[in-house]
Amino acid sequence: MLEAVLLVGGRGTRLRPLTNNIPKPMLPVAGVPFTEHQIARARAAGVTRVVLSTSYRAEVFSEYFGDGADFGVEMVYAPEESPLGTGGAIRNVTRFLRSGPDDPVLVFNGDVLSGLDIAGLVAHWRRAGAAVALYLTRVPDPRAFGLVPTDADGNVTAFLEKPTSPAEIVTDQINAGCYVFRRSVIDRIPPGRVVSVERETFPALLADGANVIGVVDDAYWLDLGTPAAFVEGSRDIVTGRIPSPALPGEVGRALLLPGADVSVDAVVAGGSVIGRDAHVDAYATVDGSVILDGARVGVGATITASVVGAGAVVGHGTRVSGAVIGDGAVLGAENEFLDGVRVWPGAQIADCTIRHSSDQS
Ligand code: GTP
Repeated sequence: MLEAVLLVGGRGTRLRPLTNNIPKPMLPVAGVPFTEHQIARARAAGVTRVVLSTSYRAEVFSEYFGDGADFGVEMVYAPEESPLGTGGAIRNVTRFLRSGPDDPVLVFNGDVLSGLDIAGLVAHWRRAGAAVALYLTRVPDPRAFGLVPTDADGNVTAFLEKPTSPAEIVTDQINAGCYVFRRSVIDRIPPGRVVSVERETFPALLADGANVIGVVDDAYWLDLGTPAAFVEGSRDIVTGRIPSPALPGEVGRALLLPGADVSVDAVVAGGSVIGRDAHVDAYATVDGSVILDGARVGVGATITASVVGAGAVVGHGTRVSGAVIGDGAVLGAENEFLDGVRVWPGAQIADCTIRHSSDQS
């Protein structure tokens, strides 16, 4: 048996309004909730039991996944009354774990899409006899991340949260949001309060001289926290850049879900997803975008690198680029919604160009 904990309790504020009602890990990415892709990858690496650490809209997860039988793993739920932070959430799952004190327990951030060799990370942890093994990835600009320098043997030497000056950027290795814990280490996290694993648990382990190792894996890695990353992750799964056993269809230029109705005179490409019972009318173009269930893209409209919410309507000739259109919003004809614009669910907008930047037009 190999257990994994998925941290899925965050509010997902950066993805509003998509997360107004749906928790970020349950948003459909390449046709199914993101968590389903994570579970499929974990299962392929030998995980047999998944504990979902929930807080915000916990019931949405259990209604979809149930006991996990349809997804090939046993699933249990560890809800928090109030969010406990990443470390507090990991501590909160202990009563649901079956692993023995020296067994490995995998922990995944619920919003990281990666090609990590999960079984390889567990093997590293085992070989090193480590308290914790962290998955690290390298990024060109690490300023927005937690830096994790290691020595020549892979031992973690420090945890440096979000550097503010160039002198603090001592490495390009960042915490990539997946860990292997020795089960007994989880039991030592203080219970019943907010704890950050990055700011408190890991630094305390280092201070105690615990064996904490970093494993750099340069496979595909993407944090799906922002709208731009969300559409990027979806199209990378659809096009097969990052394979997922949970993709409900063939790898290709686009994924059309059951009931999707695309005009023969429309162009759908770039790894786009057209949701169930959604319509793409003649001469419309949908490129690298996610069109959710029941939405309508009008005649001659152009949707690029955007999310169009469930049941939303994009008027004819309207251009949507780098934008998020909330569920049920109605955009009039011949408008423009560009560069980070977010339209709230149910909004009705006509006759304007909206651009999210200082050079508004
Ligand atoms: P933003 O509000 O947009 O920053 O997103 P977020 O709330 O998801 O926060 P963040 O991306 O930093 O969280 C990383 C992962 O940890 C996500 O998968 C969250 O769902 C999860 N997470 C964050 N805080 C908590 C918490 O208090 N409890 C639980 N169970 N999970 C959490």
